[in-house]
Amino acid sequence: MSLDERAHKYQAFTVKPGRPLNKNTATMAPSFEGKVAFITGGASGMGFAVAKRLADLGAKVAIGDINWDSAQKAAASIGHACLAIKLDTGDGESVKNAIAQVEEKYGGLDFAANCAAIQGAVGPIIDLEADDIARVTAVNLNGIIFCLKYEILAMKKRGGGAIVSIASVAGNQPMAYVGPYSASKAGVIAITKTAAAEVGADHIRVNSISPGYIDTPMMRAAKIEPSWAAVRTPNQRCGVPDDVADLVTFLLSEDAKQIHGVDVPIDGGLIVGHSVRPPGY
Ligand SMILES: NC(=O)c1ccc[n+]([C@@H]2O[C@H](COP(=O)([O-])OP(=O)(O)OC[C@H]3O[C@@H](n4cnc5c(N)ncnc54)[C@H](O)[C@@H]3O)[C@@H](O)[C@H]2O)c1
Repeated sequence: MSLDERAHKYQAFTVKPGRPLNKNTATMAPSFEGKVAFITGGASGMGFAVAKRLADLGAKVAIGDINWDSAQKAAASIGHACLAIKLDTGDGESVKNAIAQVEEKYGGLDFAANCAAIQGAVGPIIDLEADDIARVTAVNLNGIIFCLKYEILAMKKRGGGAIVSIASVAGNQPMAYVGPYSASKAGVIAITKTAAAEVGADHIRVNSISPGYIDTPMMRAAKIEPSWAAVRTPNQRCGVPDDVADLVTFLLSEDAKQIHGVDVPIDGGLIVGHSVRPPGY
């Protein structure tokens, strides 16, 4: 094949900047009819999208969030059977109580998506204060460990289940000036693998996902615009919360029965990085 022919062939598969991608082409949506799902951080962004999707697919959903007002509004807007719970993932007793409320209301727990997190302090390590480090670690890492603990205990009573926790590209490729956040997210990936190794035989699947830029209140609070994010992402697109709902729903479903103990990127290629295209390609 000549160079020109190769160039033509590869161009045909290249997404050009600004060209919209097709919405996912999944054919059959899985059913969560009659199942119970607990979503932390479900009042906003990705957690809300996941909660809404699972409810639309038939699950009885409980949203746990530190922002009680938003959690109640989110639960009301989701409709179906949706319970709002006040939760601070950084506090083990709060997590324990939240799961107990889910079990009391719905009779058990089958699925969980651990989406709650904070970005915390932005700045170089030399400027970090003890409180900056403690709160991010408490919410983002200890919080996931507490959630895994009480979710696993509840799922063991049901004879199985599935859990997805949200890590980040920053956990795979730690970023400057958000050290505690990056370290906490690397910890999420590690504890997910630990949990998977421990509970596979209990028929509980445990995975994490690592989003790149996703247009949510957290991204906007970091002063990141979708257009800025898109040009820095290899597929030239900023993600949206529904992309994450697609992936989390898949990972929780039977379709993902052989996927266990992995971290799945959902980042438009951010972690891979851009490559410079040779002239003619
Ligand atoms: N938006 C991005 O670009 C991006 C990229 C990579 C990873 N993430 C991760 O994705 C997840 C979802 O983030 P998002 O962008 O949807 O953010 P978001 O701020 O829109 O939603 C986070 C939710 O978590 C809740 N929360 C915060 N602290 C809590 C606590 N201690 N206990 C209970 N709830 C708490 C907030 O009230 C909020 O409702 C987070 O784990 C985040 O770190 C986000």
